[in-house]
Amino acid sequence: MKVLVTGAGGQLGCALQTTLSNREVVALTRAELDITDINEVRAAVTAHRPNIVINCAAYANVDAAESDEAGAFALNAGGARNLAEATDTLNIPLVQVSTDYVFDGLGDRPYHENDLTNPLSAYGRSKLAGEQAVAAINPRHFITRTSWLYHHQPANAKNFPKAMLAQSHRDIVRVVNDQLGSPTYAPHLAAAIARLIETDAYGVYHLAGGGQTTWFELTWRLYQLFKIQTAVESCTTAEFPRPAKRPAYSVLTTIKEPKILLPDWEAGLVEFARAVR
Ligand SMILES: NC(=O)c1ccc[n+]([C@@H]2O[C@H](COP(=O)([O-])OP(=O)(O)OC[C@H]3O[C@@H](n4cnc5c(N)ncnc54)[C@H](OP(=O)(O)O)[C@@H]3O)[C@@H](O)[C@H]2O)c1
Repeated sequence: MKVLVTGAGGQLGCALQTTLSNREVVALTRAELDITDINEVRAAVTAHRPNIVINCAAYANVDAAESDEAGAFALNAGGARNLAEATDTLNIPLVQVSTDYVFDGLGDRPYHENDLTNPLSAYGRSKLAGEQAVAAINPRHFITRTSWLYHHQPANAKNFPKAMLAQSHRDIVRVVNDQLGSPTYAPHLAAAIARLIETDAYGVYHLAGGGQTTWFELTWRLYQLFKIQTAVESCTTAEFPRPAKRPAYSVLTTIKEPKILLPDWEAGLVEFARAVR
């Protein structure tokens, strides 16, 4: 199976290259393929003729998207649409990676694939528009929603655990304790996607770390694993205002066969700690 990965320089792109190393992988970074350019997309898909495309390219800066909704839509919706069109023409399946931020977080039980979406942020709206474009254009689609994604790669990866490690020189950090979600270690997501693409069970899938936690608990466990002495104090979202509104509750679960479950979020953090040390 020949797999074309877009946005290959990002967290999930890096993880997929490792996970799929026993297959033929064409890994294209942003410099090699700008997915907002339909001509570049058509040329790449036609030249490589992969058996499947996995789109890892994204405008992932949730706060920046609030003041640049057009930019977020150009990449998260327009780029996804370009890939859907180019792959559909050649009957090639497409994996579009999406997010828990398509939900409003007002629920009180884990969100499954059939739950109603209602994004609170520009990022969430742009990702939902990407899902809708892919679903409308290419019937051979896997839309995989994940959450709170992190990886030790690339070296400059921007994610929550790395940001908190960078704070470890401080005596105290304050971290919000009223948002519940499912942290997902990118290699675990990559392994789940690798299993999913062995099937032709197209549709929407929730693929996120098992269990649930808060950013506060995640930090506490991270510091424990790294033997960091910094005290972790809990605070509320209201005390820590950010440009983009986040869902208060965005734990993901799956009701879709072939029920692919990821390891528990804590197992992911332990593996991350081992890899970083
Ligand atoms: N990170 C999270 O917490 C999270 C949570 C839920 C869902 N997701 C979704 O999971 C997927 C993977 O996220 P990630 O964390 O791996 O993202 P990431 O690390 O930010 O990687 C995204 C990659 O896309 C590239 N890119 C940007 N503009 C591009 C363009 N026009 N054409 C091609 N590539 C472009 C970026 O390159 P540059 O670095 O050069 O800009 C970067 O390498 C995304 O769909 C994201 O929405 C992420």
